This record gives sequence, structure tokens and C-alpha cells, in this order.
Amino acid sequence: MKNNFNLIAPVYDGLAKVVFGKKLKQIQTHFLPVIPENANVLIMGGGTGWIINELFNTGFKGKLTYVEASEKMISLSKKNGSFNDSVHFIHGEESALPTERKYDVIITNFFLDVFSEARLDEVMVQLSERLNNDGIWICSDFQNTGRFSHQLLLWLMFKFFRVTAKLESRSLMNFEHKFKKIGHSKSENFTLMNGLIFSSVYTSEQSL
Ligand SMILES: C[S@@+](CC[C@H](N)C(=O)[O-])C[C@H]1O[C@@H](n2cnc3c(N)ncnc32)[C@H](O)[C@@H]1O
Repeated sequence: MKNNFNLIAPVYDGLAKVVFGKKLKQIQTHFLPVIPENANVLIMGGGTGWIINELFNTGFKGKLTYVEASEKMISLSKKNGSFNDSVHFIHGEESALPTERKYDVIITNFFLDVFSEARLDEVMVQLSERLNNDGIWICSDFQNTGRFSHQLLLWLMFKFFRVTAKLESRSLMNFEHKFKKIGHSKSENFTLMNGLIFSSVYTSEQSL
């Protein structure tokens, strides 16, 4: 099975901290305060679940659906969380989302980078269909900066995850182009590490 993060799950956060310090957490939490208090939120591929506490600690009182393909990641999320009663955990992929349900906010943090280009296109269309017209999509990920040191780090990371998680993706896609393609434009943007990591808020062009 491709994109299987079970093996790496117990050490994922530790490794991220060794390589990136607090930056990966900082980028993923940057736009949490813009989420409306009573929103219906979907987090795809949330990993070990630390972000659940961060979201609720902003004062969030809405509903959260948390979808994770890795059994190990989802069990860590359930163990780590203090707000589990307010979370609908789904062990599965985008195809496991309840039909007809739409969300005010979708969060994809370091999630879109696991897919091959063809699958990414499909996943993004599927998710955009789940977003309310006036909803927001928060995406944090890596981006190409052209710097040699960044290219080297990205190459090493993709290689590492191809071995440990059978990563489907071969290289980093330009996510901004992909959002444009599905009719979403960037309304806010934040970067760290000289642009290597970004967090952006996207809105549907239909809502403008
Ligand atoms: C690179 S990790 C990022 C985890 C987390 N967002 C973070 O930044 O700490 C990608 C996560 O997406 C999950 N994943 C991969 N494909 C998925 C899919 N189709 N649906 C749901 N989760 C998926 C993996 O199990 C993994 O936990």
C-alpha cells in the first residue's frame, strides 16, 4: 500500500522537530485563529493529532472531522487529544467522507505532497466539492524556492519517505497552480524558513 505512515508514526513528530525545530508547528498553527468559532472543520491527513488540541485551544467550539489513512496515526491522535468528544475521527481516505456533508473549513497540512500528480488532481477536486461556497481551505506545505539547500533537503525527504512510507509522490508539485485549476484563489499567505514552508488560505472564486 502506498502512503503508509504506520511505520513512521511513532517517531514522526520527533523527527520533524529534529529537522525543523518548531517551524512545522508554527506554520500549521498560524491561520488557526481565523477559523470561525462554530465552523464545521475537516482536517485531512492530520498525522499524530497534536493540531486538534491547538485548534480547540484557540477557543474553537465547532465540529471537527479528522480523517487519517494511517491506523497508527489515528490511534495516536485519539490518545493525545483532550477534546475527543468533539471530534469525529475517520480512519480512511477522502473516499470515506460522509456523503453530502460540506465543510466551512478544510485543512490540508503537509498532506497534498504525498500524492502523484494524477491522484493529487483527483483528491483536490473531491475535497473542493466538500467545501461550502463561502468556505476557506487552509493549506500548509513545502514549496520550491530554487535554493540549492532547499532542493537538497526536499530530495532527501522524498527519498526517506519513499523508503519508510512508500510515498506515492516523486516530487513537489506547485500547489498554487493546482488551487487555481480548481477555481480557488489565495487570500492570505505566510512563509517561514526563507520560503521553504508556507501556509495559505484559499477561497473559492465562486464566492467572490
Ligand atoms: C506527511 S504526513 C503529515 C501529517 C500532519 N499533517 C503533519 O504535518 O504533522 C501525511 C499524513 O497524511 C496521511 N494520509 C496519506 N494519504 C491519505 C489519504 N488519502 N487520506 C487521509 N490521510 C492520508 C498519512 O497517514 C500521514 O499521516
